Amino acid sequence: MTVEIKAAFEKRPARPATLPGDLQGPAKVGRMIRVDQAGELGAAEIYRGQLAVLGDRPCAPLLAEMAAQEGEHLAVFDEMVAARGVRPTALSPVWRAAGFALGAGSALLGERAAMATTVAVEEVIETHYQRQLDALGEDEMELRAVIGQFRDDEIKHRNVAQEYNAETGADDTHAYEILSRSVKAGTRLAIWLAERI
Ligand SMILES: [Fe+2]
Ligand SMILES: [Fe+2]
Repeated sequence: MTVEIKAAFEKRPARPATLPGDLQGPAKVGRMIRVDQAGELGAAEIYRGQLAVLGDRPCAPLLAEMAAQEGEHLAVFDEMVAARGVRPTALSPVWRAAGFALGAGSALLGERAAMATTVAVEEVIETHYQRQLDALGEDEMELRAVIGQFRDDEIKHRNVAQEYNAETGADDTHAYEILSRSVKAGTRLAIWLAERI
């Protein structure tokens, strides 16, 4: 590096903490609540779809338990959206339809595929909630507590589904790897869209 370039390099302004286009303050938090509401709506619908197909199978009580928890999560974000005047997601009908279709579709492939879907979705959601926790400041303790609790619930859902499949243990790992990748990609896309629309 020549001396001039080196000097210019050293004089460059430090990267700002935020970049143009990054949201700040209430807009940032509003976006978080909006995507979380959309996600919990989608999650509730996934389990509703799975129960519609697998309602009389051995895994049904587990699905019902997880569905009830997603309903509670959704209610909390519904309340928060109203209390804080956050614009709710404009894509509710899409999340409902996509969630139900993913739930029912995976369940039609069988209990193991349904559980593999839960594992994949919950893994993405866990990361998503963790990122939000890392981004929230001390001024948002209520929201932090809610998200921390829900992240723990989603981890439990993933473990329940993982254990269920481990116990039934058929050798179909490869098929579920493909399913898992598609579900994860779809979930990440849904998060990206729900943050914006
Ligand atoms: Fe949830
Ligand atoms: Fe969950």
